[in-house]
Amino acid sequence: MIYLNGIFMPIEDARIPVLDRGFIFGDGVYEVIPVYSRKPFRLAEHLHRLQHSLDGIRLSNPHSDAEWSHLLGQLIAANASEDQYIYLHITRGVAKRDHAFPKNSTPTIFIMSNPLLTPPMESLITGVSAITANDNRWLRCDIKAISLLPNVLLRQMAVDVDAIETLLLRDGFLTEGAASNIFVVGSGVLLAPPKNHLMLPGITYDIVLELAETHHIPYEAREISEHEMRNAQELLLTSSTKEIMPITRLDNQPVGDGKPGIMFMQLYQLYQNYKITVMRGNS
Ligand code: PDD
Repeated sequence: MIYLNGIFMPIEDARIPVLDRGFIFGDGVYEVIPVYSRKPFRLAEHLHRLQHSLDGIRLSNPHSDAEWSHLLGQLIAANASEDQYIYLHITRGVAKRDHAFPKNSTPTIFIMSNPLLTPPMESLITGVSAITANDNRWLRCDIKAISLLPNVLLRQMAVDVDAIETLLLRDGFLTEGAASNIFVVGSGVLLAPPKNHLMLPGITYDIVLELAETHHIPYEAREISEHEMRNAQELLLTSSTKEIMPITRLDNQPVGDGKPGIMFMQLYQLYQNYKITVMRGNS
């Protein structure tokens, strides 16, 4: 079951007019929200980021947080899996084709939920491969925009060589992955690119830094040079659907000793424990 403009229906029945500005211009924003044991994870933070994205494209929020929470609860209940991931998508709606905003249009709201399949244990034990590329996206990567063509092309470059992600460099500094945030471990310190307009402020990124703070893991959020990235002891990838993964090969070279490292293992365990705490409602 999906939700489209006020109605719950099977996905096969969902129809969007071809003049929807999401279809014509990619004029919209989205969120991806993990659901564990039927509870949306870090919902308040996802809704806060949604508001930031909507503000960034000057589209008013069609719902209050309480209304979103109610809608998502209904959709989760209408789907079979205990663990799901919600895809929530808002466009500027249907209007005659013109780049400028339409005067009166009703936003299109589409929400679907799919089973959440976290990475297979094997990939966590061996680690995964990544490549690098120039970050050729726009300068508002903090907006979770549905216009994802650069990200699509950058991710495909990785898939073409059997890697799972493309790490992006802008002016010699690491920004993030094509669809994930990236952390670097150097001299035992967890390094995170600083949150700014050049990257998406990941919800998982925030959790990792909170866990580092709480558990006295040394960390710094600052610019990370290509040199630091290439000489890292460890590289970690985070996203709502992939959680935390170890990158053990970069551009066909081993990262550190080529195996998932101690920082990964510690953060992975802390993340799993944190999830359990939140699901039990103790946080
Ligand atoms: N992508 N950076 C980019 C460009 C992303 O697309 C994503 C997530 C992240 C990680 O953010 P979070 O931890 O909040 O998931 C960083 C989602 C999963 C997607 O587009 O499917």
